[in-house]
This record gives sequence, C-alpha cells and structure tokens, in this order.
Amino acid sequence: MKHHSKVVAATAVALLACGKRSGSEPSDKPVPTKPVPPVAVGVVPPPVSDNGLPVLPPAPPLPEVPRGLPDRPATSIAPTPAGVALGELLFFDARVSQAGKTNCATCHDPALAFAGNDRALAADGRPNARRTPSLINLAWQSDFAWDGRYSDVATLLTAHIRGQLGDTADAVAARLAQIPVYRAHFVRAFGLAIDAAPAGSHVTAALAQYVSTRYSSTSTWDQVERTPNADKNLQAGYQLFTGLAGCATCHVPPLYTDNRFHRIGLIATPDEGRGKVDPALNGAFRTPSLRALNNRTAFFHDASAPSLDAAIDWHLAGGRGQNADPSIIDPALTKVTLTPEQRTQLGAFVHALEGKQGPAPAPTLP
Ligand code: HEC
Ligand code: HEC
Repeated sequence: MKHHSKVVAATAVALLACGKRSGSEPSDKPVPTKPVPPVAVGVVPPPVSDNGLPVLPPAPPLPEVPRGLPDRPATSIAPTPAGVALGELLFFDARVSQAGKTNCATCHDPALAFAGNDRALAADGRPNARRTPSLINLAWQSDFAWDGRYSDVATLLTAHIRGQLGDTADAVAARLAQIPVYRAHFVRAFGLAIDAAPAGSHVTAALAQYVSTRYSSTSTWDQVERTPNADKNLQAGYQLFTGLAGCATCHVPPLYTDNRFHRIGLIATPDEGRGKVDPALNGAFRTPSLRALNNRTAFFHDASAPSLDAAIDWHLAGGRGQNADPSIIDPALTKVTLTPEQRTQLGAFVHALEGKQGPAPAPTLP
C-alpha cells in the first residue's frame, strides 16, 4: 500500500471544509448533561449525558458549495451536520478495516483532492484495476466508480468496504458500537434508540454524507473568470479549451465533466470499463473533473499518464498514443494542432483550475 503523506499541504488542493453557520439542526442540539459531582482540581471528568453516552461537541455546519458551482442537485443525498461529522471520523479511522491498518484516506489522499496516484492494493493484496479517483464534487454525479456501475454512493460503499478494507459494513458497525463516542455519534446522526445497535447501512450512509460534501474550492480561474480582462493568457487558454481544442465538449464548465463515459484510446490495460453496464460503451470511462488536480503524478483510470501535460498532449494527439483503432475512439476527440503559444495558454488554463486551499487536518479519533 503506497502512502502519499509526503505530498504536503504547501501547494495543496481544493477542499473547502469551512462555511457559515447554517442554523442549528435538530440533531445537533447538545444532549443535556447531568449535574457533575465536584472533583479534585485539575481532573476533568468526561462529560456523560443522561443516556449514559459521552456528550459530543456540536457538529460543525455543513460545508458550503463554493461560489461558481451550481446548487446541489435535489436528487443528491441530503447530508446533515451530524452525519457528516460521523462520516469524517469513519473516513480517517483504520478500525473500519479488518486489519486495522488502512482507512479510506490511505487511498483517497486528502492532499490530492481525495484521489490517488496509483492503483492501490486492495484488501486481497492485489493492485486495483484502476487508479483511485478523486472524491470532490460527487454531489453532482449520479453514477459512481470509473464505469458508473453504482447508482448511489452507499451501495458502492457496501461492496467497497469489503473489497478495499476487507470487512463487511455490518462488522464495522458492530466493532465501532463498542466505542462509546461512536455510539453517541450513531445515536445523534441517525436518531437511533440508545440500546439499538448501529448497522452497516449507518456506516455507509455517514460516509456517503461526508464524501458527498467534499467540494473543490475556488481556483485561480474562478477568480479570473469573474474579472474581465484580468489575465489575458488564461482567457486565451479558456477560449482554446472551449473552442479549437474541443475539451469542453466532455469537460463541461463549471464542473469540467459531462458525467458521461467516453473512449479516449487507452487500450494498453484490458478493462471493459462502462462496457460492464452498457456493452456499446466497452472501454469507455467516466470523464473526470479537471478541478483540483494539484500535486498529482498519475492521470487517467489506468494511471498511465505521468503528468498533467502528458494527459493534455494525449488528447491533443487524438488519443492515438497506444495505437488504438481510430474507429473505437470517441468522435469528439480529434487530433488538434496548436502553436507553441496556444499550447502554453491551454496548459496554463488547465493548471488554473487547481484548488487554492490545502486539505483540512484529519480529525482526532475517539
Ligand atoms: C485500497 C484503496 C482504496 C480504499 C482503502 C478505498 N478506496 Fe474508494 N476507490 C478506490 C478505487 C480504486 C476506486 C475506483 C473503483 C472503480 O472504478 O471500480 C474507488 C472509488 C470510490 C468512490 C467512487 C468515486 C467516483 O468518482 O465515482 C467512492 C465514493 C469511494 N471510493 C469512497 C471510499 C470510501 C468512503 C472509502 C473508505 C470506506 C474508500 N473509498 C476506501 C480505492 C480505494
Ligand atoms: C471525448 C471526450 C473528451 C474530450 C473531447 C476531452 N477529454 Fe479529457 N478525458 C476524457 C475522459 C473520458 C477521461 C478519462 C479517461 C480515462 O481515464 O479512461 C479524460 C481525462 C482527462 C484528464 C486526466 C484527468 C485525471 O484526473 O486523470 C485530463 C487532464 C484531461 N482529460 C484533459 C483534457 C483536455 C485538456 C482536453 C482538450 C484538449 C480534453 N481532456 C478533451 C474525455 C474527454
């Protein structure tokens, strides 16, 4: 398992975890405390509520959708502050895995917009068929995984926890229910009775709420876009992106994806991709967003492009780098010849979609 902790926040990505108070949610009200008997000076008694569970600090407000992105679609799951707070703990907790050594962030690196630079080892010790995708802006997605074979995140996670972390979601729930702070979180997030055992569906629901509220923050381009004549070079890059170079046909602003599946000539590693769902689209993969690609050293589902520029040049060459038969390449991807100046402008524009904010620090686990 490769760990990416060497990539540090200095340049960093794109994750907004801050926002204005969104008013107190019913589930966030602090549980009333019992009168605490006096104790010796310097000893802080652990606060316990009437129900015998630890008192939790109020859940932070939901992260706000950054300016420049559309509103969350009504069809997306409805997160609550308490559910997201629990999901955040689970995301970083290795007790979610059977071996107790890996967590979601082991592969989905917060410093890489929750993506990975490799085909990380799954729970069975074998490399995944695909590079770990980013988890930003999932709220606007309706099919999940590179081939979109899952129609909701919680369903994906039921299989994913088994495949990537080696355990069933039910076993994870039972294990964490032994820890009083987690019990209090499950009760608060899902309104469970004090003596009700949390189920695997609560684990996957909380994780789904957490990942579906990770957004890419405002990028340099978002600022330039709102400031006429601010940066002529980037404006020219945007014109090429949406015009001559044809990128915006698939990477549609402002999310920079069309949420569809295309064949772009990556045939070296056999993988049916979307063909699993729709045989007519054998070898097609989801168009990834181009936001928050900071610090990445591997691109595409098979991690075959070693740099952002290599990925851009792959497209400009019409996806012919692996001698794929042109008839199986998406007709929207054609060879485009740019002058050196235009190529520089296009590259500068794609780089300007990088996020400006580093990852939020990992939470303190119970
Ligand atoms: C060992 C590496 C690994 C671990 C651990 C891991 N993932 Fe993943 N994750 C992947 C890979 C690889 C994919 C792509 C799978 C595919 O396309 O078939 C993926 C896909 C996803 C997706 C779909 C994203 C999209 O764009 O559709 C979500 C959501 C997700 N993971 C969340 C999680 C959560 C939450 C955890 C912790 C419970 C987790 N992952 C743990 C490697 C990992
Ligand atoms: C026909 C649709 C289509 C067009 C046109 C297109 N792309 Fe893509 N792009 C994709 C798909 C699909 C992928 C993911 C392919 C895969 O990994 O299998 C992708 C991947 C990428 C990636 C890698 C992202 C990552 O996280 O790995 C970059 C960068 C990129 N495209 C930039 C561009 C640029 C720049 C242009 C214009 C020159 C462009 N694309 C035109 C569909 C398209």
